[in-house]
Amino acid sequence: MTALNINAQIAVIGAGAMGAGIAQVAAQAGHPVLLLDNRPGAAAQAIAGIDRQLGKRVEKGKLSAQARVTTVARLQAVDNIEALADCALIIEAIVENLEVKRELFRQLESLCGEHCILASNTSSLSITSIAAQLDHPQRMLGLHFFNPAPVMALVEIVSGLASDPALAACLYDTAKSWGKKPVHTRSTPGFIVNRVARPFYAENLRLLQEGAADVPTLDALMREAGGFAMGAFELTDLIGHDVNYAVTCSVFDAYYGDTRFLPSLIQKELVDAGRLGRKSGQGFYSYADGITRAQPTEVNSRAVVDTCVVEGDLGVANALLARLRERGVEVIQRDGHGVLRVGDAVLALSDGRMACQRAREDGLDNLILLDLAFDYGQASRIAISCGADIDPNAMQQGIALLQRAGFSVSQLSDSPALAVLRTVAMLANEAADAVLQGVACAADVDLAMRAGVNYPQGPLAWADTIGLAHVLRVLENLQAGYGEERYRPSLLLRRRVAEGRTLHD
Ligand code: NAI
Repeated sequence: MTALNINAQIAVIGAGAMGAGIAQVAAQAGHPVLLLDNRPGAAAQAIAGIDRQLGKRVEKGKLSAQARVTTVARLQAVDNIEALADCALIIEAIVENLEVKRELFRQLESLCGEHCILASNTSSLSITSIAAQLDHPQRMLGLHFFNPAPVMALVEIVSGLASDPALAACLYDTAKSWGKKPVHTRSTPGFIVNRVARPFYAENLRLLQEGAADVPTLDALMREAGGFAMGAFELTDLIGHDVNYAVTCSVFDAYYGDTRFLPSLIQKELVDAGRLGRKSGQGFYSYADGITRAQPTEVNSRAVVDTCVVEGDLGVANALLARLRERGVEVIQRDGHGVLRVGDAVLALSDGRMACQRAREDGLDNLILLDLAFDYGQASRIAISCGADIDPNAMQQGIALLQRAGFSVSQLSDSPALAVLRTVAMLANEAADAVLQGVACAADVDLAMRAGVNYPQGPLAWADTIGLAHVLRVLENLQAGYGEERYRPSLLLRRRVAEGRTLHD
């Protein structure tokens, strides 16, 4: 099946933030679009709002004046549901309430022709459940846009238990023809993005709760080492803690209390206090006028280092060596087990054990653990950790070497898998489990996380780059270290490591 014809009549119900954005996308693609809202005047206001938005784009030279006029002319506000009888596709974006949505779709089914596709933009309700009471549940699917719909490329095409695969293919092609990046997913809690993204928030909140580092430091690490567009705290301040906490609770409940999705008491306290983030003027950060944001904490060293010795292969951290050489450090290569020696210090990429534990178990004195960087050749910041008994001079030498390479260095308390490595390992683990459970294919999971939440790389491809065996070891060590099911590795990871394959094979 191909995309809907450009002349096919589309309707959007609900003229709020999402409905208006979706209507704009469909109209810009060339469809005639009806917009309905049960608040009198809301649909017309939304169209006027779209006109203003397009006007701004014309002023900036990003859209022609003619395109603005033709797009707005395709949009029509209607005030009764009967006007939607001849639509080819109806997209619902009303209040997030199962009973209200079910009632609306029952009404639509009795009104519309049998070929009309019924779609919901719900982000948390089950498509299977919304469709359950329809006479023809096969025509009901999820069409999950991201906010703001005209800007965000991702659309999750969600199939419920009864959804017709041919209609899912049609919506996929249609979304693509609208310039979007669609992915297929099954109707499971959180679909792809709202499920796979949970560890990004959860692991940072946990690190904060355990005093691993402060808010600005963890945010800076996610951005400057992890390559994420925003840290977890500035991002949840933007999303709104009420919204983000509600999604976490809903996914946690939907998975019967699986501790992988455990909500955070820190975030609950912010919600209880009304510190909802930017919209309330205070979240993790204050948004009051004149407040300067606290800076990430850093460690500095005055030690002078010109030489280091690399023993064996540093794995994903190897790019560090070229960076050191470029800055005039002599790097001597020897056989060994993947450590970097400078003076009395031994640096190594974390394997998920605490530094104190690994130093004792592997007989490594003065061990400094390195966190993951998305790109060790480019990252401007790196996190380190060490045991309490490290020799202060060795610590100074280790920090000096990283500063020579051009990193700002942030020291975390001795935490398993530090910050970026722990976050990425858990994202990859969740993504792997989603693939294992048939929620989506590996390529779609990675695309969803890049296009829906702007991750620098899909978590599965990222795990392949780090090395699956290393990611598995990190998770096993996290599970052993915490003694918690939360960190149990996905069966898919174990299987692929045993088979010697990657997650994208
Ligand atoms: P909103 O509150 O901005 O807009 C909802 C609109 O629906 C309002 O204008 C309201 O008057 C209208 N409405 C409510 N009940 C109605 C009914 N029975 N018939 C006709 N109109 C009705 O909400 P928003 O944020 O646009 O969300 C809408 C849907 O999109 C929800 O299902 C939500 O879960 C989903 N969604 C929201 C995202 C977001 O970031 N806000 C992202 C992706 C999905």
